[in-house]
Amino acid sequence: MQAVRYHDHGGPDVLDVEETERPEAGADELLVEVRAAAVNPVDTYFREGSYRALGLPMVPGSDLAGVVTETDGESGFEVGDRVFATGLGKAHQGTYAEYAAVPTDRLARLPDGVDFDVGAATALVGVTAWRALVDHARLEPGETCLIHGASGGVGHVAVQLAAATGAEVLATASPDYHDEIRDLGASELFDYEEADLREQVAAHEPTVILDHRLDDYLSFDAEVAGFAARVVGIGENSKEAGFENVSAARANEFSLHLMSMFNTPEMALVLARLATLMEAGSLSANVARRYDLDEAGEAQRAVMGESFLGKLVIEP
Ligand SMILES: NC(=O)c1ccc[n+]([C@@H]2O[C@H](COP(=O)([O-])OP(=O)(O)OC[C@H]3O[C@@H](n4cnc5c(N)ncnc54)[C@H](OP(=O)(O)O)[C@@H]3O)[C@@H](O)[C@H]2O)c1
Repeated sequence: MQAVRYHDHGGPDVLDVEETERPEAGADELLVEVRAAAVNPVDTYFREGSYRALGLPMVPGSDLAGVVTETDGESGFEVGDRVFATGLGKAHQGTYAEYAAVPTDRLARLPDGVDFDVGAATALVGVTAWRALVDHARLEPGETCLIHGASGGVGHVAVQLAAATGAEVLATASPDYHDEIRDLGASELFDYEEADLREQVAAHEPTVILDHRLDDYLSFDAEVAGFAARVVGIGENSKEAGFENVSAARANEFSLHLMSMFNTPEMALVLARLATLMEAGSLSANVARRYDLDEAGEAQRAVMGESFLGKLVIEP
């Protein structure tokens, strides 16, 4: 089969398309013919070697959508089933390939009306948004929830999930995307470059905040948060982040949750819930651009360096 692989850590140029053996599905795994694999920032961290993965050579890619071609006979899935999955590309080979072996606890059925590219684009960011908002923040209907970076892969799905939960959704994003993010369910949009952003957001007293850049926003979050707010941190650009005013945050009973999508205990269950929302039309990732396997390096450059709404997808 054709697969993108890297034999050394480094920049996007270490990615090459190679002819490799089709993977064999092990115990509790299915073989899936990959129709679409989404591109995530984490793929680049594994490629660079700043996050540790299985070993080299490695196929990148954490999520996929495709068709089951071999089953273990016990999982309830059949050959020909449409599925989507995530949690790969770390302890398992990844998904920028024609086939992938997928553990049955990391995949769910993809509803018939949902295209493969949308399924792949939803998987990792959908599970991340779910773990942040449902598992960690325990977001409730009627709460006010702030989503930072709402045009991003995680952000634009988190806006939809929070809105589906019945929360009032505030979002920060570049003004170019405000209309589309409003259509996804946000009621108030803020330009993250505005000088009085803190005052504008603080007036709404959000009690749940999803933060994708803790080094930029943790102190901001502590100041704008309403009483007993839960802030969930999913990312940062540099390793240090802190508060300017710890005593005010403490008095406000602000709590901070730090998380990794890869730790999600019941990924298959979360994917199945996301599938229900997709089938109902309440949630759908926006596919901004599509790439061929031999454009994987270009796609990884773009995910880190370019601005777009939603997700980039590779179609093998
Ligand atoms: N912990 C986890 O499990 C987990 C899971 C998924 C992702 N992450 C991390 O979360 C982060 C976001 O992931 P993603 O997949 O959503 O990435 P993405 O699709 O590349 O989105 C990044 C977003 O950040 C926005 N942005 C850029 N500069 C900003 C600023 N100064 N203030 C606010 N927003 C800004 C971008 O908007 P513009 O294009 O308008 O600049 C874009 O919408 C990454 O660091 C990723 O590694 C962590």
